[in-house]
Amino acid sequence: MIFTIAIDGPAAAGKGTVARALAAHYGFTHLDTGLLYRAVGAKVLAGADPVQAARDLTPDDLGDHLRTADIAAAASRVAVDPAVRAALADVQRRIARCDGGAVLDGRDICTVIAPEAEAKLYVTASPEVRADRRFAELSARDPNLTRQGVLEDVLARDARDMGRAEAPLVAAADATVIDTSDMAIDDAVRAAIAHVDVILAERA
Ligand code: C5P
Repeated sequence: MIFTIAIDGPAAAGKGTVARALAAHYGFTHLDTGLLYRAVGAKVLAGADPVQAARDLTPDDLGDHLRTADIAAAASRVAVDPAVRAALADVQRRIARCDGGAVLDGRDICTVIAPEAEAKLYVTASPEVRADRRFAELSARDPNLTRQGVLEDVLARDARDMGRAEAPLVAAADATVIDTSDMAIDDAVRAAIAHVDVILAERA
């Protein structure tokens, strides 16, 4: 079966958690596309050329070691480059249409990578709520972080991701919006599953 669940949204809105839960629930392949940009960002911080780094990326380059504030900022800087985005597009499209179903989360999945996706979600939350979540997640590993600093990073990343010319972050007109500002993540997952169940039932 070919079935794509495309999820976009700003940093720390909960889309990664929703994407992982949907993939586990339906037995679909999951791709966190932010990790691709983070891997390129990390290579650029180490001195690589961004486009070459994107072209040379391998699965070994991906992993949770990329989830730091510095690498997130580097990712959003390389992500404005159309040549970097083009170099990462094919692998994302292949996974989106792989047999057995796929969940992809990122910034341009509904709009650019998989506009044909059967299910589209835009997962968002207020910048303050997102900064609190990111601070809680990262501060144990990085004792120098402050909540204010994390909020500034979130706002700077939003501005760069939403304001860039190429594939800016925007809610697709046909995406269902889930605002997790006042929602427990389990409720967001339940809402997402309910939405996808309706689409699957229509196709059955
Ligand atoms: O989702 P995550 O926070 O890991 O993404 C890191 C950065 O990668 C984002 O801020 C964004 O600039 C970029 N990105 C993108 N398009 C995607 C996924 C991530 O531009 N599909």
